[in-house]
Amino acid sequence: MAKKRVAILISGRGSNMAALVKAAQADADFPARIVLVLSNRPEAAGLAFAAAEGIPIAVVPSKLYGKDRAAFDAAMQAELVKARAEIICLAGFMRLLTPEFCESWSGRMINIHPALLPSFKGLDTHARALEEGVKFHGCTTHFVTPGMDEGPIILQAAVPVLDDDTEETLAARVLAEEHRIYPETLRLLAADRLVVEGRRVRITPAG
Ligand code: GRF
Repeated sequence: MAKKRVAILISGRGSNMAALVKAAQADADFPARIVLVLSNRPEAAGLAFAAAEGIPIAVVPSKLYGKDRAAFDAAMQAELVKARAEIICLAGFMRLLTPEFCESWSGRMINIHPALLPSFKGLDTHARALEEGVKFHGCTTHFVTPGMDEGPIILQAAVPVLDDDTEETLAARVLAEEHRIYPETLRLLAADRLVVEGRRVRITPAG
């Protein structure tokens, strides 16, 4: 089967993007190829990593579009079409996409969220987990639908919350799991092994 062409959308550090890139490089049989790293912020640190790896990069500065989400999404879509992307991975992409954009990529766009959804949607998940006193926290990969952090869950990883955790120590423990489950999720999606049934995602056997 031909490798699926993947665009990764970032806004900042890009450590999940780097984990996806490395996973694809490390295994000749990885079913996906990263063909574009696209940022809405020219200063996103992850762009330098991608460029150094020889991956095409592009920037659509969301600042230029203000509140005109449709025009911003159209500019993003133009870059995705140019790169002939078949799958989108959101990786710390901090801009909400229009419902129309999400619908047009339905089943082909995934995200990683630093919490065990449906708990702690939105921002500041680690601080909120500490404040609530949960004993387990973690991360979730999911399909992207128009509602924020709401699409069908693909994989999750849980980590313990320790008594002496700070936001930083907890974030680091979760991030290590993000870097494990996001490449695994992309591998499953690109190999056509994910079946969505309502809100549930079934993983079909390999081969
Ligand atoms: C990660 O924690 C990710 O789960 C969240 O934003 C953060 C991005 O980090 N969506 P990075 O840019 O991948 O390093």
